[in-house]
Amino acid sequence: MSFIESMFSLEGKTVVITGGGGGIPGNLAAAFAKAGAVVVLWGRGTNHPMDEAAAQVAEAAGGGRIFAVTVDTGSREACEAAIAESERLTGGFLEILVNGGGGNRGRGPFIDVDELLFKGILELNLLAGLVTPTRAFAKYWIAKGIKGNVINMTSMTSYKALSGTWAYDAAKAGVLNLNEALAKELAPYGIRVNAIAPGFFVGNQNRALLIDEKTGDLTTRGKAIIGRTPFGRFGKFEELWGAALFLASDAASGFVTGVSIPVDGGYLTDNI
Ligand SMILES: NC(=O)c1ccc[n+]([C@@H]2O[C@H](COP(=O)([O-])OP(=O)(O)OC[C@H]3O[C@@H](n4cnc5c(N)ncnc54)[C@H](O)[C@@H]3O)[C@@H](O)[C@H]2O)c1
Repeated sequence: MSFIESMFSLEGKTVVITGGGGGIPGNLAAAFAKAGAVVVLWGRGTNHPMDEAAAQVAEAAGGGRIFAVTVDTGSREACEAAIAESERLTGGFLEILVNGGGGNRGRGPFIDVDELLFKGILELNLLAGLVTPTRAFAKYWIAKGIKGNVINMTSMTSYKALSGTWAYDAAKAGVLNLNEALAKELAPYGIRVNAIAPGFFVGNQNRALLIDEKTGDLTTRGKAIIGRTPFGRFGKFEELWGAALFLASDAASGFVTGVSIPVDGGYLTDNI
């Protein structure tokens, strides 16, 4: 094994990725598979069946052991059943949980906030996107003495609110907060909790906000984001791979917990 492999290989590890049918999670799944991990995609399968998502990841990764479980991560019972199903499929323990499920829905003035939608976005990002699956995994890891590893998805709005995306702002600030608090709570069990904070990457949940569907041109918001990003462009999904492999590898980041790594083309450096 080369030095680089000894630092970053995920051979012998199993990674569960929630939101596995989505843009960023699906793409990270391919990177984990390329690094040698067994990968289990968790998702609701609403847009396309999870088996199809797994086949796409396998194609992108050029092979590997990739499984799919259809699960609503907002349900505690469903998460517990999905852990048992993932162990059965892979024939081993599950060491890494990537909380990839999450996202925003629309934007608008505060006086037009729809409380039902607001609650739904909080539930998606805070409960389905973090608390419910992480709780199930923490219980499982503690019971089995596994030194697990959680990777959450924070956002630029975890640090500085975006305009008009009220619930998403609150939810992702909460994800950053819980990321830190959980890191402390779970450290005595050897469980690490970290996050990746992507800048702006065009995914299913934000495409319409960034790119005009009819013309393919940037929306006003898309232009504002590019204008504030020192690198002057959106991110490419593969630019998240390095941070993801670093956090997933115990050899590379075994003493790192409670951090959120921005991968943002410099967006957070914006000043006047
Ligand atoms: N795209 C970006 O620029 C960006 C930036 C910062 C953070 N993020 C975060 O990264 C994560 C992935 O974003 P994306 O752009 O790839 O979004 P995406 O919509 O492409 O993927 C999210 C996936 O989560 C799934 N999902 C939603 N609710 C679920 C549930 N209850 N159970 C199981 N699966 C569920 C969706 O079906 C979808 O497949 C999200 O947390 C998002 O907030 C994205």
